[in-house]
Amino acid sequence: MNKLDSALVTAALKGGGFEIINLEKDADVVLINTCSVREHAEQRVLSHLGFLKHIKESKPNMVVGVIGCMAQRLGAELLKNKTVDIVCGPAQIPQITELVTKALQEKKRTISVTEKIRQLSPEDETLEEFEMVSDGDDSQLPAQAYVRAMRGCNNFCSYCIVPYVRGPEVSRPPAAIIEQVKRLAGNGVKLVTLLGQMVNAYKYDTYCLADLLRMVSEIDGIEWIRFVTSYPTEEYYEQILKAMADLPKVCHYLHMPAQSGSDKILKAMNRNYTAGKYLELIEKAREIVPGLAISGDFMVGFSGETEEDFEKTVSLVEKMRYKNCFVFKYSPRPGTAAEKRLQDTVPEEVKRERNIKLLAVQEKISDELAKEILETEVKVLVEGLSKKAGVNPCGEKGYPQLVGRTAEDWIVVFDGPINLAGEFAKVKITKTSPLTLFGEIQG
Ligand code: 5AD
Ligand code: SF4
Repeated sequence: MNKLDSALVTAALKGGGFEIINLEKDADVVLINTCSVREHAEQRVLSHLGFLKHIKESKPNMVVGVIGCMAQRLGAELLKNKTVDIVCGPAQIPQITELVTKALQEKKRTISVTEKIRQLSPEDETLEEFEMVSDGDDSQLPAQAYVRAMRGCNNFCSYCIVPYVRGPEVSRPPAAIIEQVKRLAGNGVKLVTLLGQMVNAYKYDTYCLADLLRMVSEIDGIEWIRFVTSYPTEEYYEQILKAMADLPKVCHYLHMPAQSGSDKILKAMNRNYTAGKYLELIEKAREIVPGLAISGDFMVGFSGETEEDFEKTVSLVEKMRYKNCFVFKYSPRPGTAAEKRLQDTVPEEVKRERNIKLLAVQEKISDELAKEILETEVKVLVEGLSKKAGVNPCGEKGYPQLVGRTAEDWIVVFDGPINLAGEFAKVKITKTSPLTLFGEIQG
């Protein structure tokens, strides 16, 4: 969501005559797009503001803006920080060019957030119009684009800040989404990722996500379609997976967080399923889409999580055989039900140990799954130079090291010509690690 918002802000500012540069010290305006999901993310923003304070000492006219979820959450409190000139919530991002222009011209510090975010109108046309501001060339990756299917969330998982900063759940009209994807495809986008906090709940009139997948599949130029994030629920589940099985463009990839393997903890998290139900859903998914790659999110150290609860999580991860997992240490968020009603009982050190342990369990599984791909040929959408390419610019045949991903979201690293960025390539996998496949480009 944040990457998409950053891409839209970039496009809007470019459209407004601004030039995007990389070095903050040379910029007239610095905008920080923020996340409030964990305290750590917010702390990083605050320390970055400390860094910008120093730059501002020699450049007093520089405008600093904090945009996104943290702006919405903290509002006026952020303006107490003298480095900050603009505070702009997620629902006010469509005004960003105006806010920046005003700050530059009038040297006034402004705040623009939604007073009562849960009452944000689902028919807010500025938000809908703003989705269209980018035609795709602002995404960080060539030939790829995120497209919002839904805004906000109504789920209120007890630990989660999202419903309080992004407002109520709204599904975008399918016609708007299709028009947008057609424009993106016209500009060379091959992979679209449909986004929603609970994207499998997409519903507009009689349309559900399976219908949307079908419609996007019909768009020429689009070759791969993904959707994130799915919430474990029966509703629409079979329809969506059958669409995945039937439609060749829909990638066999499902990101479906379980969060915990303990029913007691899942209940405290206000997740409306049990570990058994989750397992059943995953089994059903693998029946409908054989070979489906699944990734998950888990939280360790949630309020009241005992060693026994944690062991249940370990056991679930062992059974699931995820392609990969994201593991987070529970971070109480002000104003959420868990923060208000439950105690943060698990010491930081224990959270850290559980985090490391769970990642190690998953790493072994990822390693085994990666090895199954050895010696096979995979189709990869090339993203560009790998991180290593900067250090070691040319591989064996004089090609730099490139990175791309398979339809199942495996990261693949190989040597090849840079003009492959944004193109598909065939790669034979010759070596693997738990998170990355290595290979040789074919013909
Ligand atoms: N603390 C830690 N992790 C969290 N997540 C959401 N809220 C919190 C929190 N308060 C994690 C969940 C979610 C992912 C995006 O972030 O695992 O799936
Ligand atoms: Fe947060 Fe739950 Fe909504 Fe996901 S589904 S954004 S975890 S409240």
